[in-house]
Amino acid sequence: MKKILFVSSEAVPYIKTGGLADVVGSLPKYFNRKEYDVRVILPKYACMDAAFLPGLHFVCHFYVNLNWRKQYAGIFEAEYKGVRYYFVDNEFYFAGPSPYNNIYEDVEKFAYFSKAVLEALPYIDFAPDVIHCHDWQTGLVPVYLHTVFGADNFYAGIKTVFSIHNFKFQGRWRIREVIDITGLPEQIFNDRELESYGEANYLKGGVVYSDAVTTVSPSYANEIMTQEGGEGLDGLMRARKNSLYGILNGIDYDEFNPETDPYIEANFTSKNVMSVKKKDKAALQKELGLPVREDAFVIGVVSRMTEQKGFDLISYILDDMVTKLDVQLVILGTGENKYENAFHHFHSQYPDKVSAYIGYSEARAHKIYASADAFLMPSLFEPCGLSQMMSMRYGTIPIVRETGGLKDTVEAYNEYENSGTGFSFCNFNADEMFHIIEYAYHVFSDDKRAWENLMQRAMKQDFSWNNSARQYEKLYDSLCEMK
Ligand code: ADP
Ligand code: GLC
Repeated sequence: MKKILFVSSEAVPYIKTGGLADVVGSLPKYFNRKEYDVRVILPKYACMDAAFLPGLHFVCHFYVNLNWRKQYAGIFEAEYKGVRYYFVDNEFYFAGPSPYNNIYEDVEKFAYFSKAVLEALPYIDFAPDVIHCHDWQTGLVPVYLHTVFGADNFYAGIKTVFSIHNFKFQGRWRIREVIDITGLPEQIFNDRELESYGEANYLKGGVVYSDAVTTVSPSYANEIMTQEGGEGLDGLMRARKNSLYGILNGIDYDEFNPETDPYIEANFTSKNVMSVKKKDKAALQKELGLPVREDAFVIGVVSRMTEQKGFDLISYILDDMVTKLDVQLVILGTGENKYENAFHHFHSQYPDKVSAYIGYSEARAHKIYASADAFLMPSLFEPCGLSQMMSMRYGTIPIVRETGGLKDTVEAYNEYENSGTGFSFCNFNADEMFHIIEYAYHVFSDDKRAWENLMQRAMKQDFSWNNSARQYEKLYDSLCEMK
């Protein structure tokens, strides 16, 4: 039995700000349980979903040395859907209303977390074959492992995988302060190891010190090796080309299942979708105060409101879209103030056409995935993207920009061959996006048959973890064979 430890700053159901939590909260369930004992370790945030607190049990405590600081660490554990979770408790670091604060607080918080994770292993009596780290917050785990813990027998032979979910966030801060916080040896802050553009860079540390690096789609793996998508580290990624793998994310087929979803008005399958999905659409329109009309083209958006997600493009064409087409735009999201304010404004300007709910709601997200006709995701870049796959599972047709994982998961509609699962455009350009929305609108309105075929094909795609979990297993196996 191989032992694998996932280290992450978030995981469903305990704490979530984005797709990382979905991935870490679902992938461990899909490994072959007879051969892989996959466990997860997370921070025990004060803002964690309180409903789960009674299920956490105290295991032990110890102290973590961070240079001249000595910090308490408590370890808790819990079991959820057959997966064992550990939590690192420290009320000073993990306080506050969200997992992430200012970068200067976060670099210390996650240095502490990374070191505490390694210190915890003998206490929880779990000597992993592979430690699988996720995003910059855990980038120092492999660095500490090979420097500070290198001489200790308990840690000898542990392999590391570093997964990049978003290359834009790298955890960069002043070298002097990072040395002071982490207690890492000064000589590793050079341009082949932890230094980048004059700063310490946690993500770079993770990439350099891990045995293998993965990212969440094959296209994004290629993009981060180019100057355009490399966020300043494309040279590093090209240098690691031979140990860089693009493994497509899956979605949790138990949670996002039109047949059993408890959040939606009427459950359906691909067999009865045509007759049932309308009920969901009508219920959503009613709930949001939009005119209940079957022929209106309902476009959903569920997203963090950031530049990455293409909100500039949507804002730019919104007036045209709602005045020229019979469209109802339904938005659910939180994020940057400028976008939140813009969509508040559109909501009050076009009450019959635009519904914008600025906030976070699992229930509403499911209702939009299940009830809209189309799902808009015009990302500037997208490492994988889960929302477009969730939509397709419910027969909601994605309209996406051809980038990263969106390119790998959505096949463009071809009216001549009657093929494809969605609509896509290439350049990050609002007019180009508008043309493709118009095209989708006309197919929806004028060619019902073609639209139904699109829905059927989208619902038949396999976005479960089955395939990708096997690829991770293979990767772990190959690392374990390495000396
Ligand atoms: P990212 O991780 O870049 O935000 P993904 O598409 O990978 O994008 O994952 C986003 C996840 O967050 C999905 O599960 C989506 O449903 C969820 N989500 C985003 N915004 C909201 C919101 N306002 N309310 C509920 N769920 C949301
Ligand atoms: C990141 C990316 C998103 C990806 C998610 C899970 O948040 O922005 O594209 O799906 O991580 O890997």
